[in-house]
Amino acid sequence: MQCTVKKASFSADLYRSIMKLPVESTLEVSGAVVRDTRAPGGCELQVRGLKILHQASEDWPIAKKYHGPEFLLDRRHLWVRNENMRAVLRLRARFLELCREWFKKQGYTEVQVPVLITAAVEGGASLFEVNYYSKKAYLTQSWQLYAEALVPSLGKIFTIAPAFRAEKSRTRRHLTEFWQLEAEIPWCSLEDIMSVQEDLLSFTLSGLARDSVDELGRIGRKAGELKEAMPPFPRITYDDALKMLLEKKVSIEWGADLGHIQEKALSQEFDKPFFVTHYPKAAKAFYHKIDPSRASVTLSADLLAPKGYGEITGGGVRIDDLASLIHRLKENGLKLEDYEWYADLRKYGSFPHGGFGLGVERVLAWICGLKHIRDAIAFPRLINRVYP
Ligand code: 4AD
Ligand code: MG
Repeated sequence: MQCTVKKASFSADLYRSIMKLPVESTLEVSGAVVRDTRAPGGCELQVRGLKILHQASEDWPIAKKYHGPEFLLDRRHLWVRNENMRAVLRLRARFLELCREWFKKQGYTEVQVPVLITAAVEGGASLFEVNYYSKKAYLTQSWQLYAEALVPSLGKIFTIAPAFRAEKSRTRRHLTEFWQLEAEIPWCSLEDIMSVQEDLLSFTLSGLARDSVDELGRIGRKAGELKEAMPPFPRITYDDALKMLLEKKVSIEWGADLGHIQEKALSQEFDKPFFVTHYPKAAKAFYHKIDPSRASVTLSADLLAPKGYGEITGGGVRIDDLASLIHRLKENGLKLEDYEWYADLRKYGSFPHGGFGLGVERVLAWICGLKHIRDAIAFPRLINRVYP
């Protein structure tokens, strides 16, 4: 709230100290709240009593002038007080609250699984290695393998947890530590997995448009823009995507995963999120179920955000029989002994199941219209940054 002091209300000494106070000092103030249309928020406090609780140091490093991103990232512990940062962090908190509300309404159980793990979920190249009492362990990339162990016990489950990827490149959409919201569901088809995501995003986007108008306004977004992005989301197959890319003269070979360039080009063709389904085997991790009607593709679906944002969720149906799992592990050059407990799940009461993972910062960057994913989290971890 805007607070104003009048010289006449204070002793000469106190008034002089007040005038000399550096920015970011801590004060206790009391007085009368009055309406004033000129003040931000429509009212101000006319200060009568004032106590200086902490006089800040004179050298507050953040000026009103333009600072480069690295300068502000070095001072992130102070920059988090910025009003835009505050708005995004509040939107983030509300988004996660809404997700939890939706899962609760739908009868999901929230669970937590280890961060320290021994086998890759999403390919070994992006694993962070940890020295675990002279044994090799890794930081988790996804809860998924553990989730599949918990589904037979709990049914529909979800988690909101940190995930780690030792990304090799600096991009606007990769963090090395990010938060992933993941769900795993028994007895579900690829279509079910997509419709769960549509319902969840429909609930959270309309919730934000209703509850977070001030925060959205602060960062230049209108509630109406979120409403325009509501489901149903279009679905195209990987093959359709390649045809669209060919027309746009963006090159990609059949079988390769869509990279940033391809996703950006595709996502400019849509004004709301859209699913790309049935990725080739080679483009997806070992655990994806092969499409029974076409052996070269998987029952997989990524959700891509429009306007160049690209992938925000990834998921699909899991392999549920032992022989196919062993075959795919071998094809991917993975050691069977590393996945022994995971394979056990296909020996004792297996059933069709699947799920998805949503990158919390990716979704927020899209919702908030951020240029870089680092601004969707308070203290980003990037290839060149673990401090502050
Ligand atoms: O597509 P990914 O790798 O899928 C999985 O991890 C599955 N096991 C999830 C599942 O089915 N339970 O990652 C899921 C999502 C991506 O769509 C993306 O939004 C986000 O996690 N993500 C990242 N976000 C920020 N920085 C990174 N380096 C990310 N890598 C993935
Ligand atoms: Mg993915």
